[in-house]
Amino acid sequence: MTGATSGFGNITVQHLAEVANARVIVGARGENRTLPSGVEVIPVDLASLTSVREFVNAVIKAIGTNKIDILILNAGLHGSPAEDKSEDGYGLTFAVNHLSHYLISRLLLPYMSDNSRMVITSSNMHNPPFKVLAPKRLELDEWSHPTAGGNGTGVRSYIASKLCNLMTALYLSRLKEVKEQNVHIIAFNPGLTGSVVGRDASKLQKAIVKIITGTIFPILSLFKPEFKKNKAEHSGKMLADVALGNIVPPAGKIYVSLVRGIPTYPDPSELASNIELQGKLWEKSAEMVGLKR
Ligand SMILES: NC(=O)c1ccc[n+]([C@@H]2O[C@H](COP(=O)([O-])OP(=O)(O)OC[C@H]3O[C@@H](n4cnc5c(N)ncnc54)[C@H](OP(=O)(O)O)[C@@H]3O)[C@@H](O)[C@H]2O)c1
Repeated sequence: MTGATSGFGNITVQHLAEVANARVIVGARGENRTLPSGVEVIPVDLASLTSVREFVNAVIKAIGTNKIDILILNAGLHGSPAEDKSEDGYGLTFAVNHLSHYLISRLLLPYMSDNSRMVITSSNMHNPPFKVLAPKRLELDEWSHPTAGGNGTGVRSYIASKLCNLMTALYLSRLKEVKEQNVHIIAFNPGLTGSVVGRDASKLQKAIVKIITGTIFPILSLFKPEFKKNKAEHSGKMLADVALGNIVPPAGKIYVSLVRGIPTYPDPSELASNIELQGKLWEKSAEMVGLKR
């Protein structure tokens, strides 16, 4: 699992660690992480494709002849300015949220067990009815190499990356090898959760968002359920339930979206559902991470 050291992912990993005989491996950067005892940590900095490859190789070595039953790709930045770049020179949010997880999903797919689950955290913000800033078209050049004030910066970089997470999940779900291996691909939207902005936000951003989410959002949520905030404990438990197979999307659906904390199965946006554009994202992402299609 990535994104287990903070936010609702930190709750999810606690539930996973409680499963009898489960071996839980977390990919995390830095030191002093609060993780349940028994959880193994393999270092990864998702802002570096070299680090991601080293992480994947270490996971493969660690599992030996065993297979992976659950892969959760949950880490995420909540947006970054144009000047913030990954080690490989891509827009930081696009690289951390999308490219690194794209690469992990592809490299670890052959190591998934029969009837396993791969969960990628997306967001309902990818969808224009929920977020006016949601992309209306695929702008991969801008998202991968953001320009100052462009659509690959700030909150728009975040929303674009969450769209890419969802499109990747949809593309993955149709792959021949995914069907043959019986891997269940799921995209998860936790809805507004916890502090909403994420721990990487500045103090000013956090203060502004706290005021807005504490005053305007509760009123808006009376009419628009997407403004109802979930507690990290709840979204974290829901993500664990999705990963453990306690919450199962109906046949033909892969997108689980919490609305007022309850799992729903809406259609992804028109753009996210565009099969041709999913293929374009897949191929361009392969080029960017140095994989064959
Ligand atoms: N909160 C919401 O309202 C909301 C709504 C929709 C979707 N989401 C999505 O849900 C997921 C979790 O959100 P959250 O609010 O719980 O986030 P969060 O508290 O900010 O946690 C983000 C996680 O990502 C990890 N991470 C960030 N950059 C990394 C890097 N370069 N290398 C390795 N790990 C890195 C962090 O690790 P460190 O501990 O090292 O920082 C942390 O574990 C994200 O994908 C987010 O986009 C959140």
